[in-house]
Amino acid sequence: MMKKFSFLILLGVLVLAACGGGSSSNSTPIPLATVPAEYAGRMNPFDVSAAVDGANVFKTNCATCHGETGKGDGVASQSLDPKPADLMELSRRVDDDYLFWRISEGKPGTSMVAWKGILTEEQIWQAVTFIRTLK
Ligand code: HEC
Repeated sequence: MMKKFSFLILLGVLVLAACGGGSSSNSTPIPLATVPAEYAGRMNPFDVSAAVDGANVFKTNCATCHGETGKGDGVASQSLDPKPADLMELSRRVDDDYLFWRISEGKPGTSMVAWKGILTEEQIWQAVTFIRTLK
């Protein structure tokens, strides 16, 4: 009897820990999706020097939401649900094709719009290169 009771308490603690922080979902790692076939395996045509142009693309188009250093803390981020992704954290877990796909096509159900047509492919790759330099 006693054993069962302490098990329930342990379970409760675990559930609380898993939900930890509640509203600060910004720090919860984003579940990754599978890159669609038309984007899978695409490679960045630029080397690291493109990060300079990428920084400008990012500053102009992305920083209001994602913040200057990509942490998801831009001025517009407070009013968004879900909050903009922490790109530094995401960048450690995904390949270039993932970033290029998401930026090109956006993320349905969030305020992340599709940037193809707004930015050129070159600009999107430059932004990817910049995101890779975030530390
Ligand atoms: C209007 C605000 C806004 C702007 C501007 C914006 N984003 Fe986003 N971005 C978001 C939100 C919100 C998400 C979704 C976060 C989530 O799913 O939890 C997101 C997600 C992302 C993701 C990850 C998607 C995923 O979950 O796999 C990447 C990469 C990204 N943005 C890059 C960019 C880049 C690069 C730019 C500029 C070209 C940009 N974003 C501009 C709000 C914005």
